[in-house]
Amino acid sequence: MKYVIANWKMGPLERGEAERLTAALTQELQGGSERVTVVLCPPFPWLPLVGAESRMTSRWRLGAQDAFWEERGPFTGEVSLSMLRSLTVQYVIVGHSERRALGDTNEIVGRKLRAVLSSGMTAVLCVGEIHREGDWHVVFREQVAEALGAIEAADAGKLIVTYEPVWAIGGSIPDTPDDVLSAVLFIRKLLRERFGERAASSVPILYGGSIEGGTVAPFANQEGIDGVLVGHASLNAKGFADIVRAIGEA
Ligand code: PGA
Repeated sequence: MKYVIANWKMGPLERGEAERLTAALTQELQGGSERVTVVLCPPFPWLPLVGAESRMTSRWRLGAQDAFWEERGPFTGEVSLSMLRSLTVQYVIVGHSERRALGDTNEIVGRKLRAVLSSGMTAVLCVGEIHREGDWHVVFREQVAEALGAIEAADAGKLIVTYEPVWAIGGSIPDTPDDVLSAVLFIRKLLRERFGERAASSVPILYGGSIEGGTVAPFANQEGIDGVLVGHASLNAKGFADIVRAIGEA
């Protein structure tokens, strides 16, 4: 199974736009390949409307961009996993570099990861170096090791890892497929060391960073990369559907 995960980030800015995007996606994603799972991760306020549409069409699964690790208590501004589950959310992004830049440390990412996995939802763990210099593998070795430190091999079936080099996010020039493959193999090795061969091989590893309709092909065709996480290009229904098709047909 391949994955295409849409991270809408803080968009669209208005409800009407979110409704139009959702309706356009319903059209564009009709009849897509069964070999690709599409996950849409809108901002919290748009989860109910995207979720309602997905229940009608089942063209995509619903994901959240973040969640809090505690289930209840006085935590102003936070959103619990049971709230998300009641909105039919099945996937939660954890450790996106934009959350890390706002203060999510490796320790916080680890707590969130544990909470998502013990809630039974699938965690999409994002890792990646900020600069491509020196021994860049070291940064996400630390990120992966800390995040996985407290989870069990039995949880690996609910884990997706996304390699997202921070410097490649938000533009139109992705990392090279060769470097992505080297990062993916390195992450696979860390998973194997932590979970053993069988559990590690079941974890999908995706790439994210400047994926658009025109840049997706080499990643779609690269064995070892199990799909993509798409930021800005996921706000355009046609362009996003092109990406989903490229991944599904590879
Ligand atoms: P981008 O974002 O596709 O806009 O580069 C990817 C991401 O941040 O997940």
